Amino acid sequence: MIIISPSLLASDFANLESEIKKVRNAGCKYLHLDIMDGIFVKNITFGIPVITSVRKVCDIIFDAHLMIVNPIRYIDDFARSGCDIITFHYEACSGKTEIFDTIERIKSHDIKCSMSVKPATDIRKLYPFLHLLDMTLVMSVEPGFGGQKFIDGSLEKIRHLKEIKTEQDLSFDIQVDGGVTFENIAAIKEAGANVIVAGTTIFGADDVDYAVKKLKNSSN
Ligand code: DX5
Ligand code: ZN
Repeated sequence: MIIISPSLLASDFANLESEIKKVRNAGCKYLHLDIMDGIFVKNITFGIPVITSVRKVCDIIFDAHLMIVNPIRYIDDFARSGCDIITFHYEACSGKTEIFDTIERIKSHDIKCSMSVKPATDIRKLYPFLHLLDMTLVMSVEPGFGGQKFIDGSLEKIRHLKEIKTEQDLSFDIQVDGGVTFENIAAIKEAGANVIVAGTTIFGADDVDYAVKKLKNSSN
């Protein structure tokens, strides 16, 4: 099943409640929350108090994409703020031990655990952890900002993940994030991604319902 996950980063921050309800009503099951710390990436976005507030007014699944260094420091806080899925970055951890500890910490809250790699990172870095993950996230732009162009090499990474998932009979979802448009969505799905993050393409659309449907139904 294809899940469309709109990235809140591209929404109107002055009207978060109505923006979230708009995508929920358009049929989106997930909401992608981009958390940036100004260190792991150049940008700073929003954090725990904002998530806690919007959690009270909407029932959509919150998928937090943590672009922060040493994410283990904040897992308990993000889980308690109401996140249903937490994605952290391979590159944000100091080594394997910290990665295993972060996965364990996320799972201790009975929420889903997901791990991401930046565009320049070899997808094979995720292999030792795949059996523990509910989702993997292939970054298809350099993390930090919305509205960038999709990096074509990401399709190859998605295909690799899909292959290893089938080979090893694993069940993790494959999420893609960054630069998703009506033009490349079919190829992205064909490569094997099933959770599709889209910021600009959804929140920037004149007709959000239409944009979500088009992303959901497009195929080659
Ligand atoms: C980038 C973020 C993305 C971004 C996607 O660091 O992780 O989620 O907001 O936005 P678009 O779809 O506009 O590329
Ligand atoms: Zn993201």
